[in-house]
Amino acid sequence: MLTVRDLTVRHPGRTRRSAPVLAVDRVSFDVAAGETLALIGASGSGKSSTAAAVLMLRRPDGGEVWFDGRELTALDESALRPLRPAFQPVFQDPYGSLSPRLRVRDAVAEPLRVQGRWEAGTGPRRVAELLETVGLDPRLGDRLPHELSGGQCQRVGIARALASEPRLLVLDEPLSALDPSVQAGILNLLTDLQDRLGLAYLLISHDLAVVRHCAHRVAVLYDGRIVETVPAPALYEPAGLHPHTRELLAATGVRRLSPGARP
Ligand SMILES: Nc1ncnc2c1ncn2[C@@H]1O[C@H](COP(=O)(O)OP(=O)(O)OP(=O)(O)O)[C@@H](O)[C@H]1O
Ligand SMILES: [Mg+2]
Repeated sequence: MLTVRDLTVRHPGRTRRSAPVLAVDRVSFDVAAGETLALIGASGSGKSSTAAAVLMLRRPDGGEVWFDGRELTALDESALRPLRPAFQPVFQDPYGSLSPRLRVRDAVAEPLRVQGRWEAGTGPRRVAELLETVGLDPRLGDRLPHELSGGQCQRVGIARALASEPRLLVLDEPLSALDPSVQAGILNLLTDLQDRLGLAYLLISHDLAVVRHCAHRVAVLYDGRIVETVPAPALYEPAGLHPHTRELLAATGVRRLSPGARP
């Protein structure tokens, strides 16, 4: 479904004189329908830069991104626009990714309106369905983001992404801003949605417990490059892994997901 070849992203240097930062250096990977590919790596290794380029939120400086047989990197914005609903981001900061003055109901309805799929007769019902799909009481539709918990807010962000009927979600640290007690619930929701809707995930996480729980394969970024891509169970056998991957495992350790968390 998603094919990334030799993706390269450069950021301007911090000062006018400093050299550009090569954040992503000829990165290649694939994500199949219904699959979760985790992208792991230390802070600054280029995970978010890769995500932004895959989503075409930031044009890559080199390489190709293919989605469902179309080369996104060859298209201009007007040709991309009708394809964008199929690949959606879910961000780390649940509050920051929602407009503070937009009620939940309107935040979820917005993609439908923008994409010309809003109908007065069925729209409200669709919004209620989407809220139910992510485990929220549709009555929360009246609320503003600051009237929700972090976990509820992240569920709204997911409902909003689902409104576009995507086939791929790009999740950049979707749990790390959340209280540990609600992380497992969101994680279960994501795996459940994948099963029900056949979604593909590009999952960025520094939390190896999360990665082990839901990834099928894991790509390890180090300094802008993928050092290896392995099946997720390989993380349990560090001896066979690349030294950088082992370092990452040792550095982050693996905690248990909160046992008291509600599904
Ligand atoms: N907007 C920017 N301008 C300049 N440099 C940037 C910008 N965004 C990222 N960088 C640099 O690019 C490199 C990769 O950053 P990126 O945010 O992609 O890493 P990351 O793996 O997502 O890190 P983290 O785990 O901390 O989120 C880093 O050296 C970072 O300092
Ligand atoms: Mg990042």
